[in-house]
Amino acid sequence: MKEGVSGVGPASRQHELVRTADGSATLSWGAEHFHSVHGAVTESTHVFIRAGLEAAGKEHVDVLEIGLGTGLNLLLTWVRCLEGKLSVGYTALEPHPLGSELINRLRHAEDLGWPGLHDSFLERMASGTEEWHQPMGGLRFRRLVAPVQRFEAHGAFDVIYFDAFAPQHQPEMWTLEVFQRMFTALRPGGLLVTYCAKGDVRRAMIAAGFQVERLPGPPGKREMLRARRN
Ligand SMILES: C[S@@+](CC[C@H](N)C(=O)[O-])C[C@H]1O[C@@H](n2cnc3c(N)ncnc32)[C@H](O)[C@@H]1O
Repeated sequence: MKEGVSGVGPASRQHELVRTADGSATLSWGAEHFHSVHGAVTESTHVFIRAGLEAAGKEHVDVLEIGLGTGLNLLLTWVRCLEGKLSVGYTALEPHPLGSELINRLRHAEDLGWPGLHDSFLERMASGTEEWHQPMGGLRFRRLVAPVQRFEAHGAFDVIYFDAFAPQHQPEMWTLEVFQRMFTALRPGGLLVTYCAKGDVRRAMIAAGFQVERLPGPPGKREMLRARRN
């Protein structure tokens, strides 16, 4: 189960590296985790890559990620680009960027079998700029140090990876107002995917104008949600 809160909280809390059930690494922060303990790579691949990126069915996909965190979704997307499957413009929001030392210790690129990507990945994750980085291997990337509650875009994205901490820990991420922003940010036909399948979240998405389907979830979760802007 993925749970957590934003980067605010008791200063005594430390991020710790945790091995998940599929052997890939994530971070814990107190009792919470950045990914499912049933498998970080397994969860991200299932929810964001298969049900989102690949389901978009386009040769070029503009992705918006809510909650860049450790960058695992970014790296999985980059690998799809390097495999020649598509090209991606990737905008990630992260108001509380992690330090490069933590990203370095996680070794996500090695977990994915692409150790040669580690340095370029680290460079992008550790960079202070909000500008687009030089495109590489079919991926263009920028990180904005901004909260989703203040992000505005109009018909600019094909897929949103909605990877916030769980509603019981960060309810302000899962509101009607936030989903209205996400609806506006997507192009017609665009998809928003999330690991969360809570009824309140589904209803907030529907109230924002989305058509919402429940899909089978990754290991440890019965269902996930995919919302479409028609
Ligand atoms: C579940 S973690 C994301 C995991 C990440 N996708 C990964 O692969 O490591 C949730 C992330 O949302 C970020 N976050 C917290 N408040 C936010 C806000 N208001 N807007 C956008 N992201 C926020 C947190 O700092 C955290 O990194």
